[in-house]
Amino acid sequence: MKILVTGGAGYIGSHTTYELIDKGYEVVVVDNLSKGFKSNVHPAATFYEVDLRDEKSLENIFEKEKNIKAVMHFAGSIVVPESVFKPLEYFNNNVYSVEILLKTMNKFNVKTFVFSSTAAVYGEPKTNPITENDELKPINPYGDSKLSAELLIKGWAKAHKANYVIFRYFNVAGTNKNGKIGIKGEVLTHLVPVVIDAALNPEKTMNIFGDNYKTKDGSCIRDFIHVVDLAIAHIIGLEWSIKNNKSNIFNVGSSTGYSVLEVLNQAKKSLNIEIKSKIVDRRPGDPAILLASTAKIEKELNWKPQKTLDEIIKSEFNFRKNWSNK
Ligand code: UFG
Repeated sequence: MKILVTGGAGYIGSHTTYELIDKGYEVVVVDNLSKGFKSNVHPAATFYEVDLRDEKSLENIFEKEKNIKAVMHFAGSIVVPESVFKPLEYFNNNVYSVEILLKTMNKFNVKTFVFSSTAAVYGEPKTNPITENDELKPINPYGDSKLSAELLIKGWAKAHKANYVIFRYFNVAGTNKNGKIGIKGEVLTHLVPVVIDAALNPEKTMNIFGDNYKTKDGSCIRDFIHVVDLAIAHIIGLEWSIKNNKSNIFNVGSSTGYSVLEVLNQAKKSLNIEIKSKIVDRRPGDPAILLASTAKIEKELNWKPQKTLDEIIKSEFNFRKNWSNK
């Protein structure tokens, strides 16, 4: 079965491509390499360096590849603080590209769409753990753009008798066993890569953004999910949708919360390395706690995360150690 993966040179898209190919799927990767790396693309995937908003080029890919059964859409802009300064860019890249994709799928009669959404659609949740039916109230343009894309996808599916599976990610981290694919940008913003970077570079001190939240140790609490567990959830969701001719929306997390300080301490323990840190001011827009309820995905897809925070940290270390040495 042939699957088109957008953003297959990026972090989650490349990991999902590896899992798909492992399971015998044929994969066509489309990525404009604005953030992705060609070295992340699985060697057995067919790769097109194309921007999704280039409608003609996208049509040519569908035409040439024929028989595309489903689209998994990972490409997008994902940095929350950046979205505050660049809302037009975020809507253009995260919503308009979905419109073009869905339009092209209509032309070629492709009826299954798997979409990367985010816990940011919930904004600052009133209660934790968060369920899929909780209020959708994003607090930044990134979350707004993902929620808009969700609405577009729902409308499309209804009008065109098509199906979607939307995954709302919590904090994704770690890398797969080969240790060669991952977040390769120079500027790291996410907690686990930042902690590992500080572990590998003793001259660096990592910042802890705030120790005065209403949590057990004052630092924010997040729900971490290993990227391979997430990739597997996508494939199970894809197969479920095709088999049952159904659509759905799922949180993907571990339903276990770790504070920023706990992640740091776990990294010191797992790696047996001293990591320098200092407490600094809160980062604007950070909710105190984000914790997923995973009851729905466990029940409907029979999926449960398999990997621990220790495995997340060790795999990220393994990848980043090789990457920094290059
Ligand atoms: N943090 C630090 N120091 C750092 C980096 C992060 O203390 O150097 C803290 C943050 O303040 C936050 C926690 O670690 O409390 C996690 O921050 P990340 O940047 O790793 O992730 P976020 O929780 O901000 O973002 C994640 C996803 C987004 C999604 C968001 C939902 O990466 O895509 O959850 O709010 F939108």
